[in-house]
Amino acid sequence: MTTHSSSTPLAIDVRKVTKVFGSGPLAFQALTDVDFQVHQGELVMLVGPSGSGKTTLLSIMGCVLRATSGEVRLFDIDVARLKDRQLPAFRSAAIGFVFQGHNLIASLTARDNIAMISRLRGRSARAANAEADTLLEKIGLADKARRRPAELSGGQRQRVAIARALAGEPPLIFADEPTAALDAHAGHDVTELLVTLGRERGTTVVVVTHDNRIFHLADRIVGIEDGRIVAPDPSTAGPAHGVTFPTGAHP
Ligand SMILES: Nc1ncnc2c1ncn2[C@@H]1O[C@H](COP(=O)(O)OP(=O)(O)O)[C@@H](O)[C@H]1O
Ligand SMILES: [Mg+2]
Repeated sequence: MTTHSSSTPLAIDVRKVTKVFGSGPLAFQALTDVDFQVHQGELVMLVGPSGSGKTTLLSIMGCVLRATSGEVRLFDIDVARLKDRQLPAFRSAAIGFVFQGHNLIASLTARDNIAMISRLRGRSARAANAEADTLLEKIGLADKARRRPAELSGGQRQRVAIARALAGEPPLIFADEPTAALDAHAGHDVTELLVTLGRERGTTVVVVTHDNRIFHLADRIVGIEDGRIVAPDPSTAGPAHGVTFPTGAHP
């Protein structure tokens, strides 16, 4: 594992973020005063019960949703200052997402699904295809390069989704329960793969997961409950027994 001293620059700096959905009597406050910092190259697992605000927080950090108040900086860029029309380009250059569902394009092969994102992130066609082949090799699916999503298993599709998030080497990856739709064994492998490949590339990764078998692979585990950051629940926090590890320290 790597260490991230306080001198390592921040990839993510979330300060006092609140998110309110709706307005008037129907308003619902999904996040309250969330402070969340992640150093460049750090790997953080976010844990919390259903409805606690995990997806909302990832969506705000991923520039898919805007915070109601508070500040969100990614690599020192204040994302509130980005205009709506600037967001898609910023998002696609800086951020890779892995969702619960795989979100692959049904009509494209595994290789083209990966290469397309690599191209979106600025690679030439040749470089994108080469990167797709390298990633297919790394996820153990080189022999399935020409299959379409429907011709792959759930676990294989999520592997392709991980390769796609990594394609073009975005500095940040957010993964939202990437294994929720998989059985325990396949799910474990997929998240472990994301962690391993993210580390290899020095990518900053925030992954929402309930898989306590991989908690030891994180630099830090952060809990969230009722829209607030908390020490993770001891019963789910694995080897660290509920402690939020200071940056750079490992169980
Ligand atoms: N678009 C929305 N409108 C209203 N409420 C929402 C919306 N999105 C999420 N919420 C509510 O915010 C809370 C947090 O949701 P979410 O971030 O999806 O939780 P988690 O991912 O931890 O399960 C939930 O109570 C959810 O119902
Ligand atoms: Mg969620």
